[in-house]
Amino acid sequence: MRFTKTTVALSLGFALGATGLLAQEQPDGKALYEANCVRCHGQDGVPPEVLASRVKNLLPLNDPAVYEGVSLDSTAVLLDNGIGLMKPYKGVLTKDEELAIARYIRTLVKKDPGSVTLPPKPAPGS
Ligand code: HEC
Repeated sequence: MRFTKTTVALSLGFALGATGLLAQEQPDGKALYEANCVRCHGQDGVPPEVLASRVKNLLPLNDPAVYEGVSLDSTAVLLDNGIGLMKPYKGVLTKDEELAIARYIRTLVKKDPGSVTLPPKPAPGS
């Protein structure tokens, strides 16, 4: 029965289409980070040496201190506005993309803050 086959094919098409839409609603923070941020902030959040040695306030993004008291929204706003040598991402990234990146960079944080090497910081209490 041709009619039924067509109906099944149509429903399948709609189902797949809907899945695609759902996937788009959650931007891939990792992919976006790699496309937009890695060249300055590095794959693991540690900036390339050439840059780190020249830009003193370029903190490694795997340092928990970067996120202390900073909400996902604040990170998105920071990206919107840019800071220092970092250009504003307003109009380049959507709010949802900025939030996805904000979420992703928090996963770069090392559990042991002592393993964060850049920039050198005095040990607590010293
Ligand atoms: C052109 C190089 C460059 C690119 C590309 C870049 N950044 Fe930055 N970023 C910097 C510099 C330099 C700073 C420090 C600015 C300052 O404090 O003067 C910074 C600061 C930051 C900070 C704040 C850290 C702090 O000091 O508290 C965050 C978070 C951040 N960047 C995330 C990102 C993300 C996410 C992306 C990609 C969407 C990105 N950056 C792309 C250079 C860059």
